[in-house]
Amino acid sequence: MALLEFRDDFNTGNSSIDHEHKELINLINELHESLQSKDTKNDVEDILGELHGQVSSHFALEEKVMRDMKYVEVNEHCADHNRLLGEILDIADAVHNDENYDYMPRLEREVQSWFVNHFKEMDARLHAVLKH
Ligand SMILES: [Fe+2]
Ligand SMILES: [Fe+2]
Repeated sequence: MALLEFRDDFNTGNSSIDHEHKELINLINELHESLQSKDTKNDVEDILGELHGQVSSHFALEEKVMRDMKYVEVNEHCADHNRLLGEILDIADAVHNDENYDYMPRLEREVQSWFVNHFKEMDARLHAVLKH
């Protein structure tokens, strides 16, 4: 079963952002499946690299939208983006350095915080403004 499902309340009203959120969810599910089926470390690292790239470009899009509209919470929102990117790199490091590291609980816990808290709180506030 997929780790994350896109939900109606994730919709932001900005179609590019929504589209990218869906793609990120797909990629996280792919990573989850890869861990579950005990794929090689290389496969897992490839997906993590792709995830980091896609998340970075998604954040760049949101940050541009926020700057263009002079969004009041831009600094706080960008700081959370940087924290999330740091966590992806930390997981990638752990995978790279430790053959036997069990990343699954950490991934499940952090994904919950990225996608539920960041989408639901930070992105939702941005999106509420975008919809007006
Ligand atoms: Fe965001
Ligand atoms: Fe987002």
